Amino acid sequence: MEEKKKVLVTGAAGFIGSHVAKRMLDLGYDVATIDNLSTGYRSNIPEGVTFYEGDCFDQAIIENLEKTNWSSIIHIAGQSSGEISYDNPVYDLQTNTQSTLMLLKLAQKTGCNSFVYASSMSVYGDRLDSEAKESDQVSPKSFYGVGKLASEHYLRIYTDYNLTCTSLRLCNTYGPGQNMENMRQGMVSIFLSQAINDSHIHVKGDKDRFRDFSYIDDVVHAFERSMEFCDNKYRCLNVTRNIKITVEELVTEIRNLFDEDISVRYEGSTPGDQVGVYGDNTMISKELSWAPSVSLREGLQKMYDWAK
Ligand SMILES: NC(=O)c1ccc[n+]([C@@H]2O[C@H](COP(=O)([O-])OP(=O)(O)OC[C@H]3O[C@@H](n4cnc5c(N)ncnc54)[C@H](O)[C@@H]3O)[C@@H](O)[C@H]2O)c1
Repeated sequence: MEEKKKVLVTGAAGFIGSHVAKRMLDLGYDVATIDNLSTGYRSNIPEGVTFYEGDCFDQAIIENLEKTNWSSIIHIAGQSSGEISYDNPVYDLQTNTQSTLMLLKLAQKTGCNSFVYASSMSVYGDRLDSEAKESDQVSPKSFYGVGKLASEHYLRIYTDYNLTCTSLRLCNTYGPGQNMENMRQGMVSIFLSQAINDSHIHVKGDKDRFRDFSYIDDVVHAFERSMEFCDNKYRCLNVTRNIKITVEELVTEIRNLFDEDISVRYEGSTPGDQVGVYGDNTMISKELSWAPSVSLREGLQKMYDWAK
């Protein structure tokens, strides 16, 4: 019997990583993960995934993984909030950027074909006048965005070492499985959790800020398609719906899910918060034949049904 191809999906105890790891298992891959359980839960790791507990920048873990011929590495682990990157910028660099570099070295050493990275729309900074395109100038506003951008450049350079690399610039991703207890990451999960628990939403920041929102299944699909490339090209792709949604519009959509009245208060702010960004998705639709399939209303309903 032919041996199964091995895929390393980092961060499979977290929201996006657990969904991607599950999909890889369903596709018949032998899947492993590294996770330090800083924001993820062991119980999220799909059954059948080999689990290495620790940091992606831990030399001992990386050396252990050098014994395996990885077919693909999908690097999703990382701290995922601009706000948190201000608590300890040096740790942010280590956990989000040094990790990427060490995993790229691992990929190169083990003859890996493709490397896919969970980057972020935060690399653009604010884009107030039009949708962000991959060819646009970037100007991250937070340490988090700087680390994501640096990681992207490491991927671009590693493409010269016979490795096909793709950076996926994810916009706000939401859906079942998102951590509903962590009140410092995930706009949808924070507001929905507050609405369910307190019948009240407290928004830290202006109601006119805007974002683009992707449902988890669409994001998983983008990872799946990206790992299929094996042509030694570097790609950087927005994973977006190209729809500008203000915070106020999002809050209204969430309130509409409930029979009871959900009150709202706009007060405070968070460091490094973007005023607004949403993204053109022409490039990903051409390169991956990818198109978002779940509307915000439909996706919020699915998440609400799950969270309740
Ligand atoms: N969720 C979004 O809206 C969004 C948007 C853009 C980019 N991203 C990126 O996608 C990735 C996943 O986000 P998520 O929403 O699933 O977050 P998450 O917090 O649910 O998952 C991240 C996982 O990585 C683990 N982790 C963190 N640092 C680690 C390290 N140094 N070594 C090993 N494991 C580590 C955590 O324990 C967790 O299980 C992150 O890199 C994030 O920056 C997410």
